[in-house]
Amino acid sequence: MSSEKPLLVVLGATGNQGGSVLSHFLSLSSAPYALRGLTRDPSSPQSVSLASRGVEMVKADFDVPSSLDDAFKGASAIFSVTDFWHSFANPALREKAAATGERIGPVARAHEAQQCRNIIDAAARLGSSLERFVFSALPDAGGLSGGKYPHVYHFDGKAYGEEYGRSMYPELWERTNVLIAGFYLENFFGPRGGPIRPVLNESKDTLVLSLAAPLATTPLPLYSATTDTGPLVHALLRASPGKRVIGVSEWLSLRDFAETLGKVLGKAVEFVDENPSFEMGDPDLEREEADMLGFMVEFGYDGHKVDKSIVQPADLGVEVGLPSVSEWCTKQKQDWEKVL
Ligand SMILES: NC(=O)c1ccc[n+]([C@@H]2O[C@H](COP(=O)([O-])OP(=O)(O)OC[C@H]3O[C@@H](n4cnc5c(N)ncnc54)[C@H](OP(=O)(O)O)[C@@H]3O)[C@@H](O)[C@H]2O)c1
Repeated sequence: MSSEKPLLVVLGATGNQGGSVLSHFLSLSSAPYALRGLTRDPSSPQSVSLASRGVEMVKADFDVPSSLDDAFKGASAIFSVTDFWHSFANPALREKAAATGERIGPVARAHEAQQCRNIIDAAARLGSSLERFVFSALPDAGGLSGGKYPHVYHFDGKAYGEEYGRSMYPELWERTNVLIAGFYLENFFGPRGGPIRPVLNESKDTLVLSLAAPLATTPLPLYSATTDTGPLVHALLRASPGKRVIGVSEWLSLRDFAETLGKVLGKAVEFVDENPSFEMGDPDLEREEADMLGFMVEFGYDGHKVDKSIVQPADLGVEVGLPSVSEWCTKQKQDWEKVL
């Protein structure tokens, strides 16, 4: 790509986090970077749409290191994100796990950790021409909890990746900022939101949140993956390196969130102390969910009760300017009708 501007390469370009980074830079009147997005399928509708908006869409696969070398050529900056859930659902990995008598959870965790290593190795091969690496990660729930919560597979694979980068490539890590992605507000619309989402009562005049403390009262770092990741990553590209920042618009408990949504929708909120059911028809998923929520309550979503290395966006020393959760709820007003 011929351009005077430095090149930002965005992984997961067609997804929530990477897509947000691209949308953010595309929305700026004077973009500081030329943009390249990575995808396994440059002919998908999302890829074609991004290409039509000026993003150079390049085929690459996290499982194929040589494809990453090609896709990273000329990069001044890289935003990296991996997708645990794709590995978790992957039929080939499930077959492999069944054949060796392993569970899919640890196999998918190992697979994501290897993808992280492939990405980090390829980024390190660029040497000092790569000025900034932003790595989207999650905390090591198993390690930080001293083994009490060993099944938070989608956290730990990314944490293993981060630890690999820090220990294997100290020079790359001196130019790296880590984004600990917060709890997606988008979860409230998906199946994961079901057990923690308030619902409308029968007469539709009140919101009811059926959730017992301590889960209902534990602050969570809420943020919109699709609209807030871009401004956060832009800030991490400008901030001095060596930081681990939690991606958060506001720390709110699920009770606070229900109150906020109630205000936006003009409904009173009723709280019912009830333990949620996490029956999901998949023992690995149920174990994941139970351990993740246990870890969040006991150690904090990002493990901040024992890990003091993580900073808030306000501590980055550059403006981030994320909208409040209330503003986000207002923007999604139409969609609430479908899920509550
Ligand atoms: N839900 C939450 O609250 C939450 C919070 C923090 C972090 N997370 C983490 O966020 C991650 C997912 O990020 P997201 O929401 O942005 O993902 P997403 O919207 O599901 O999209 C996944 C992206 O990853 C790309 N991808 C998947 N496998 C790939 C491979 N082998 N090679 C190259 N590209 C690949 C896909 O690209 P193509 O399909 O175009 O190839 C797509 O762009 C998960 O690992 C999850 O653990 C979630």
